[in-house]
Amino acid sequence: MTSEQRPSGPAGAFTLVTVASGATSLRSNEHGETFHPVIGPMAEARALHVAGSRIVGRAGECARPFVIWDVGLGAGANAIAVVEALAEAKCPARVELHSFDCTSEPLEFARHHAAELGYLAPWSESVESLLKHGRAAVGNVDWHFHRADFRNVVREPGTAPAPAPDAILYDPYSPESNPGMWTVEHFTRLHACLDPARPCTLTSYSRSTSVRVTLMLAGFFAGHGGATGEKDETTLAATHRELLAQPLDAAWLGRVSRSTRGAPLRERPCPGRISPADLAALQRMIPGS
Ligand SMILES: C[S@@+](CC[C@H](N)C(=O)[O-])C[C@H]1O[C@@H](n2cnc3c(N)ncnc32)[C@H](O)[C@@H]1O
Repeated sequence: MTSEQRPSGPAGAFTLVTVASGATSLRSNEHGETFHPVIGPMAEARALHVAGSRIVGRAGECARPFVIWDVGLGAGANAIAVVEALAEAKCPARVELHSFDCTSEPLEFARHHAAELGYLAPWSESVESLLKHGRAAVGNVDWHFHRADFRNVVREPGTAPAPAPDAILYDPYSPESNPGMWTVEHFTRLHACLDPARPCTLTSYSRSTSVRVTLMLAGFFAGHGGATGEKDETTLAATHRELLAQPLDAAWLGRVSRSTRGAPLRERPCPGRISPADLAALQRMIPGS
């Protein structure tokens, strides 16, 4: 990852950085991770989440409000990319955008640096309202902010503070620094909060075998997602296989079975090869395997 650090006011949790594309983004000093590295916030949010989950087309076909869960609001780039894509397409759909984060710190930091970040500047009033009232009306989008640990949000099905989603923009820190957000147990609880009658996508920057195995063992179908510049592909997961353009196939599962790192991520980690029981569970989800 090439990024140039720039002074950003008093030392704190975040630093402004210039990524390879020339765009400005945030870096978490605690996690040592840059938000939307290489191609920058808007380009990645558009390619990975908006295009990846076909938000505009699917929202346009939805007779009721289309519901999006933005997991890891951070500095708001994914949420704003959704708002802008719908506005540009003049999409008349009503959209409920539910952003979750355990802290508003990155958004507050971004708000103070809106001019440098660029993408946030036109939406400063909405961001003010979101931070102050937990809610903002932005065109046809009803934007909510839930300040909570997302692991607790999904702990009990039926208790989430938002309707079941049609799309989940999944963007916590990496499994290495944010492991509790990437386990079979957590994704199983998330899956249990979904409405089987409401086909749902989940987009993630990760393309790692262990994350894909983990999502599948939690009940999601998983497929190849589009490139984002930094990565030649990402992951599109979904509750219904038909939502995937390129589902993972028997050849992929063959590689998992031979991999020395095919095991899922669990609360009690057991890294290494995938177990026969887990492999059998995946075989039941992949036709012809
Ligand atoms: C890489 S940043 C997200 C960037 C953001 N999507 C954007 O567009 O700017 C990861 C975010 O996930 C949040 N996060 C990590 N673990 C979380 C948890 N358990 N519950 C809620 N939010 C969490 C962090 O606070 C951080 O803001």
